[in-house]
Amino acid sequence: MRVVHVASEVFPFSRSGGLGDVLGILPEVLADQGAQTTVVSPWYGSLAGQPTEIWRGTSPELSVGPAPIHDVRVGEIVQNGVQYLFIGLPEFDRPGLYFDDDVYRFCLFGRTVLSVLHQIGVKPDVLHGHDWQSGLVLAYAHLAGLRTVFTIHNLQYQGRWNIEEAARWTALPAWTLGPDALEYHGDLNLMKAGLVFADAVTTVSPNYAQEITTPEYGEGLQGLLVRLTVEGRLTGIINGLDQERWDPRTDPDVPPYGDAAGKAAATALLRGEFGLDDAPILGVVSRLADQKGIDLLIEALPDLTPHWNVVVLGGGDPLLTAALSGWSQHPRVAFVGGLNEPLAHRIYAGADAFAMPSRFEPCGLSQMISMRYGTLPVVRLTGGLVDTVPADIGFGFAEASPQALSAACAEARSEYDRQDEWRARIERAMALDFSWQGPAQQYLALYRRLGR
Ligand code: GLC
Repeated sequence: MRVVHVASEVFPFSRSGGLGDVLGILPEVLADQGAQTTVVSPWYGSLAGQPTEIWRGTSPELSVGPAPIHDVRVGEIVQNGVQYLFIGLPEFDRPGLYFDDDVYRFCLFGRTVLSVLHQIGVKPDVLHGHDWQSGLVLAYAHLAGLRTVFTIHNLQYQGRWNIEEAARWTALPAWTLGPDALEYHGDLNLMKAGLVFADAVTTVSPNYAQEITTPEYGEGLQGLLVRLTVEGRLTGIINGLDQERWDPRTDPDVPPYGDAAGKAAATALLRGEFGLDDAPILGVVSRLADQKGIDLLIEALPDLTPHWNVVVLGGGDPLLTAALSGWSQHPRVAFVGGLNEPLAHRIYAGADAFAMPSRFEPCGLSQMISMRYGTLPVVRLTGGLVDTVPADIGFGFAEASPQALSAACAEARSEYDRQDEWRARIERAMALDFSWQGPAQQYLALYRRLGR
């Protein structure tokens, strides 16, 4: 079976968050399990990798659209059994991944993918798109009669733009532009394109698959998502973790360890790095976004700092960045802005507890990483956090408020004082298995069901 994934980021070549991480491992595991696997992604100016150019030209007219797109380059990297194809368009030749003109850029990208695959002789049995950036490809794939799967990693970003203008970028037939398909409150909505045109829709945890059928989590698309559920077209498949990339026994960025006693060295190092005192360390590695509840954490800091050192790594929202920079004057608060892979590893390993006060969390990978490193998660009980954090390991809270977060941290802090209990939790956490084998089998079973 030949499976072609389409996504806007793929680790280690491009990454802004969990989407890139998933694309960095799921295709490899599918390939291990016997699927011939290709990943198609933009050739960003800042791509971390050197693809070999295998095709260059004008994207020929798509059967469903008028204007040919000029200046397409296709680069290839073959690695760990997976073919990565990078589509180079002038609009993507800038440093960085995402910009204000992304709906336009991903329309161009989306128009190019199928014709490029055709040019270089890749014939997908299943086309599997991820998040809104792949939405237009799903629409074309449907029109071309391909079998398709669409995975929601984040429903909040939908790729919307005034439909009068955006319709011209898509070159789709007029019937696809109505409210039954791509139109949403006067906008083109590329997330909706994925939902409407895919044969099967998945999201990255079973709990989130249910939550998004409610107004609270549905981001305005709950009506459509309820319909997909009733039709049996929407399911949740939990993400795994790349357990080689994230392994405290072999991680070159931390003193290697395999148990609670060994972890102490990593904690001492992190303490030294930021000049922290003896209080336990609460770590955060996160995009600084509304979704992640970082504002709740900031509001809770006056309650937390008497009992914890708090170390935060992350980039994003300028207001949250400014607030955290202000707090970093406090002797028990450390903040480092931006992405920093080695420091992320040192925090996952060195922190005692790890906070994720997410407003919503389709799956979440950080809680799995932190448990693998014996760092106990304090999580809001939402989305995939419910599916992945066992009650006898982590600390959960229901309400999205600083008070509820503080209360869960207080519970963790008293448990920390019962060192035997705390160590037992660490040992249980480090023994968990988040292998991708099971989830990959579920995807393969889904692909096969589409074949019938
Ligand atoms: C998005 C979601 C996160 C999920 C990740 C990978 O980043 O916010 O919850 O783990 O995608 O699927």
